[in-house]
Amino acid sequence: MAVLEAHELYRFYHVGDEETAALRGVSLTLKPGEIVAVMGPSGSGKSTLLNCLTGLDEPDAGHVTVEDARMSRRPEAEKTRLRSRALGILMQSGNLFPHLTVAENLRFQMQMAGKFDAERSSRLLLGVGLAHRATATPARLSGGETARAGLAVTLAADPPILIADEPTAEVDAATEGRLIAQFESRRNDGLATLIATHSEALARRADRIIRLQDGKIQHA
Ligand SMILES: Nc1ncnc2c1ncn2[C@@H]1O[C@H](COP(=O)(O)OP(=O)(O)OP(=O)(O)O)[C@@H](O)[C@H]1O
Ligand SMILES: [Mg+2]
Repeated sequence: MAVLEAHELYRFYHVGDEETAALRGVSLTLKPGEIVAVMGPSGSGKSTLLNCLTGLDEPDAGHVTVEDARMSRRPEAEKTRLRSRALGILMQSGNLFPHLTVAENLRFQMQMAGKFDAERSSRLLLGVGLAHRATATPARLSGGETARAGLAVTLAADPPILIADEPTAEVDAATEGRLIAQFESRRNDGLATLIATHSEALARRADRIIRLQDGKIQHA
């Protein structure tokens, strides 16, 4: 049983007379306990796909279902409810509240999900290599640290489906290994994870790889 399904997604961008076909008939499924890596060159449509899956963008054709509920072309309030119930979303930026420290961001997210646990919060910060930056506000973090703090916040709620856009960009190999361990721990808990990535190390640990090229899935 899939927790996330995309059927024949198309997405076109228009800038002046220029048309970009960012997605051209992309279908996929994601099952509980799976880690799926979405790979492909820059501009192949990975972020566009993820935005359509989370309902933050609408496909021009096709549709997305999340836990058997329709995400595409639904009222904003309905999409928000579905997102908060089922999805953890890690974008390339904007995942943190700027006036809260890293630890406070984490605490807030856990409280929202009804499961604050100080020990787990510390473990998560260790897990993403940020124990020493717990009291920093986002403005004082480097690019890689910001990405990892966002990841800790997204992981904290144990969302049934995690959708992450390049979560291991800008990190060294050791840190990347630790982040991969976090995703594998989700797999052990039966939670689903879909990651857009350029990382071969991450892709090797995925259950499946979906390769995009010019907005289409490349079949081997
Ligand atoms: N808002 C937009 N307006 C116009 N064109 C866009 C827009 N967003 C993306 N595109 C174009 O759509 C195509 C797919 O972009 P997308 O961001 O999905 O690629 P990507 O695979 O995520 O790339 P990267 O690896 O660099 O993050 C590219 O040709 C891009 O230039
Ligand atoms: Mg992208």
